[in-house]
Order: sequence, then C-alpha cells, then structure tokens
Amino acid sequence: MYNMIGKLEEIKKQAGEEINSIGAIEELKKIEKKYLDKKQGELVQIFHSLKDLAGEEKIEVGKKANEVRSFLIEALKSKAVEIKAKEDGGSGEEWLDITIPGKKIEIGHLHPITLVRREVEGIFKSMGFNVADGPEIETQWNNFDALNFAKDHPAKDGWDTFWIKSDKAIDPDSPERLLLRPHTSPVQIRYMKEHQLPLRIIIPGRVYRNEATDASHEFQLHQVEGLMVDKDINVANFKYVILEFLKKFFKREVKIRLRPSFFPFTEPSFEIDFSCIICGGKGCRVCKQTGWIEMMGAGMVHPNVLKNARVNSKLWTGFAFGFGLDRLVMMKYKIDDVRWFNSGDLRFLKQF
Ligand code: DAH
Repeated sequence: MYNMIGKLEEIKKQAGEEINSIGAIEELKKIEKKYLDKKQGELVQIFHSLKDLAGEEKIEVGKKANEVRSFLIEALKSKAVEIKAKEDGGSGEEWLDITIPGKKIEIGHLHPITLVRREVEGIFKSMGFNVADGPEIETQWNNFDALNFAKDHPAKDGWDTFWIKSDKAIDPDSPERLLLRPHTSPVQIRYMKEHQLPLRIIIPGRVYRNEATDASHEFQLHQVEGLMVDKDINVANFKYVILEFLKKFFKREVKIRLRPSFFPFTEPSFEIDFSCIICGGKGCRVCKQTGWIEMMGAGMVHPNVLKNARVNSKLWTGFAFGFGLDRLVMMKYKIDDVRWFNSGDLRFLKQF
C-alpha cells in the first residue's frame, strides 16, 4: 500500500510541476494524455491495478487515486484559462485576480448651456409659449430677404455670416444661397408659414458668427428667439412677458428699459437692458458702472415680415425678440470666458 500511495504522490508532484512550466495549449494536451488517457494514462494504470488489491488497501488507494485525478483535472483547467487569457492580451495573473476593484463608471453632466436653456424653456412654457426649432443651415431667403433685409443693405454686414460654398455658380444674392444661420430669427418665417395663428413660441438654438474669438466672443453661440402673434398685440404685452421672464429667472424684481434701435425685421425696434442683478442698479464692475446690462434686441414684427410668411398684417400683429443664451449662463454661474463652453474640458463641466 505504501508503494501505491507513494507512487500517486509522485505522479501528483511531477504532473503539477509539468503543468506549471508550460505555456501552450498543445503541451497541455500532451500532459493530459500522459496521465489521464483512458488506455495508457499513468493514473489510469493505477485504477486498473486496484482490482488486485483487497479491503482496506483498495479503499485507501482508490481514494488517493481519485484525489490525484481531481487535482490534475483542475490544474489542467486553470492552466488552460491562464494561457487563453494571455493569448487575448491580458497578463493572465491580472485576469484571474477577482479582488481588483472594478473601474468606476463616470457619471456625465449636463452642459451649463443645456441646464439654463431648459430653465428658460420651462419659464416660457409656464406662460403658454411653445418651444420650436429650425435648421442651422439656412437659405439666404429665410435668413435675410424674408426678414426684410434689402439686397445690398449694409445691415447684412452686421451678421458676420459664414456662407456655404456651392458646386454650382450661384448668384451671391440668390434666395437659395446657403449659409450657417447667424441668428435664430429665420425660424420665425418657417414657423409662421407652417402654423395657425395666434402663436406664442420661443426658439432656442445654435447660431454662428464669422468673427475672431476672445473671452467674450465665440463663432458658435446660442440664442433664444421669441415670437408672439395675435390680434392687438402691442409693446406693453412684450414688456410684461419679458419682466415676468426675468423675475422668474433671477428670482427677484428686475427693471427693464427700452432704447430705440434698428432691425430690418421689426418696427419700431428696441434694445432692452435690465437693471444689474449684481449691484441692483447702483453701478459695479459687471454693469461697467452703468447700473444696466444689455440683454436683447426686440420690436414689433415688421408688416413685410408677416407678409413674407403669408400672414395678413391687417389682422395680426406681433412682437419678437432675440437674446444670447451664453451671456445669461455666464452671468448665472459667474463664468468669465465664453471659450470654456466648447472647450470640452471636464474640469469645467464637472462643476455643474
Ligand atoms: N436676430 C437679432 C440678432 O441676432 C436679434 C433680434 C432682434 C431678434 C430683434 C428679434 C428682434 O426677434 O425682434 O442680433
């Protein structure tokens, strides 16, 4: 009996060492054959000789032989897994270490512009406005002509436009000529053509300006356009809507003032300032000591614009406005450089 047990111990030790030292699946197969082959395997020989043993001895040797067989099967299996993992590019040991903590999945953040855009949408929705949008690539017609810009009018130069190259020779004044919209106002035309009156909408969206960038200028920015068309709409309606919006947005009473201005698509046109929310109007660095912050352009929709959008200007009137969202976001979160917005810098984005 001692001999048989000793032999089994020897097989276990030797096979164990052989399995440890190999590095390829083919070698594993050889070892498997050497020890476990049903006919010539070394271990199988021992199982065969069990029939010559008796009683106690048979039981002891049989037990040991089973133990060695299980050991070999397990050792072969885990070596196979290790070799496979190495072939797949892992280091083997690393792959098997189940105690290494998992990689933490980073949770994303909403961009500050998205956060504020949603807030603005919520406030206008609470006043019965719908949210609309339009394409960023526009026609000259929607962007300029229909908005009552005269051909060759210098006002066009104020919207530093990125024009889109065309394969065909195209007249620079052609209504079909394409551009990257420099403002959200063309969506007014699209929307009025396609919807029944009366209407109350805001149009938040991306716009592009062909200009050099610095801390307060970007070539890609965001505007919120507003349009309300109904019977008997006048400037007082506009003032009320904007005051309500500012009160809800800044969560305090805010004053506004209207300064006369010019836009081809509104008559009369004005520029709207609101009382500085930092100093309450006394004068500070943010409002450059004036007590006022410039916010938007606005006015009563020009009858030609209504006509171009197939609206009867004898029956309907409306106001429109447009403001930059980026400035509002910068003020809300005290961000000192617009270029952060498109930087893709996670240290910036993680703060919101
Ligand atoms: N579209 C103008 C701009 O980009 C802003 C604007 C002014 C929009 C007056 C309007 C408006 O709707 O009535 O500067």
